Amino acid sequence: MADFVEKVIDETQQGAAYKPFANDPNQYNKRFYIESYGCQMNFSDSEIVASILNEEGFGATGNYMDADLVLINTCSIREKAEQTVRKRLTEFRKVKEEKPGLLIGVLGCMAERLKAKFLEEEKLVDIVVGPDAYRSLPSLVNDADGGQKSVNVLLSREETYADISPVRLDSNGVTAFVSIMRGCNNMCTFCVVPFTRGRERSRDAHSIVNECQDLFDRGFREVTLLGQNVDSYYYTEANADGNINEVTFAKLLEMCANVSPLLRVRFSTSHPKDITDDVLHTMAKYKNICEYIHLPVQSGNTRVLQLMNRTYTREWYLSKVKRIREIMPDCGLSTDVISGFCTETEEEHQETLDLMEQCRFDMAYMFSYSERPGTLAARRYEDDVPEDVKKRRLTEIIKLQNGHSAESYKNDIGKTFEVLIEGNSKRSDDDWCGRNSQNKMMVFPKGEYKLNKGDYVTVKVNDATSATLIGEIVA
Ligand code: SAH
Ligand code: SF4
Ligand code: F3S
Repeated sequence: MADFVEKVIDETQQGAAYKPFANDPNQYNKRFYIESYGCQMNFSDSEIVASILNEEGFGATGNYMDADLVLINTCSIREKAEQTVRKRLTEFRKVKEEKPGLLIGVLGCMAERLKAKFLEEEKLVDIVVGPDAYRSLPSLVNDADGGQKSVNVLLSREETYADISPVRLDSNGVTAFVSIMRGCNNMCTFCVVPFTRGRERSRDAHSIVNECQDLFDRGFREVTLLGQNVDSYYYTEANADGNINEVTFAKLLEMCANVSPLLRVRFSTSHPKDITDDVLHTMAKYKNICEYIHLPVQSGNTRVLQLMNRTYTREWYLSKVKRIREIMPDCGLSTDVISGFCTETEEEHQETLDLMEQCRFDMAYMFSYSERPGTLAARRYEDDVPEDVKKRRLTEIIKLQNGHSAESYKNDIGKTFEVLIEGNSKRSDDDWCGRNSQNKMMVFPKGEYKLNKGDYVTVKVNDATSATLIGEIVA
């Protein structure tokens, strides 16, 4: 399971994660197969889709050769992510040639970006469904069964799938994603997400807490609250005496943390312009809210940040990091960096390296800029940094980060952490693996202790690689 979690975390951001899952029991007469690419939101959406399809009598299969319906939940974030999906579709097409009754559906961000064009380009695709239209999937499948090509890519201002209880796919039974909002209003100029996922909207706070409670009751011990910009979560309702009850992200965190002290709460992603002291204090106050923040910086230069429309400066970002460390000295911190955005100079790139040097991130997702059709940057600016320069700058960024990651993990040697056991380690059934609050993966021998996944255990770190802490149980 550790493999899987790691895969989601590292590859999702690169738009290439792949997630097959186990067969449902034989209570369904039709079978669907679903693969997900892209961010955690997409994985979470696939679990909503699974729930909608179960209701319609479709059971899941982990083998597409057995499926009546093959779905691919797609990502558009970088060109490479789209290429990966197209390659995969070519393979599904071959299956369809041998099995003409098979239906192939494209879901997610590419469906939204390309819409009906998909049906022209990929003749064997039968169904195209955007991220806000999954409720219409059963009727689209019906139409497609009748030989009609079916498309629904309508974006919504309201849809949050709040009432749908996601079917946990390929789950370790310990950790789960919970979507708290959809869409994004930020309009970073490089980014396709506002176009593929539409306007930002927050999900009913009670449905979120109920989902966390339900997960806890079923033995889950960690939830990750998901949104493109969780700090702008905002939900209001009129209470019985007519007053307005406001739920900010800090409040929501608290409500989820109060489900049980044994339920860990994580979240992703935070935007440097929006993360508040209130959130930081709430994190510090509750032991079960993990001390880990993913705070994408994108660039260390203020002019580039402005061109990106990130709406903060280098100094603002540095002051946020300082604040995080004042309030939570041990907080884990990771980031996203883009190299070679339009007009980025060598000096500006150096400023990114310098900012990384100052922040010392524990981990980072690093990309070279990939122009996406229709985005503000594609319309306004020339993609003028040559590919080899983008790549060289990215290599420098990665090299620097690798050093910082290695150092961060090494610094933990000798420390003890509370770890939530997620399952057997990928190397050996004699070892457990799990994460500490700072989101670092730890591996340690099971020894004589009678423990199970989902248990908390105190582990002392004896050794470290740049991505794993190796330790032993001390209590
Ligand atoms: N909502 C999150 C990130 C979503 S996309 C946030 O605002 O932080 C994940 C990461 O992909 C981004 O942080 C960015 O670093 C990267 N990314 C997005 N668009 C990109 C593009 N056109 N080229 C290269 N990287 C991109
Ligand atoms: Fe994209 Fe910016 Fe929204 Fe993140 S905050 S999804 S980078 S537009
Ligand atoms: Fe990709 Fe869409 Fe997520 S573009 S990163 S799957 S929101």
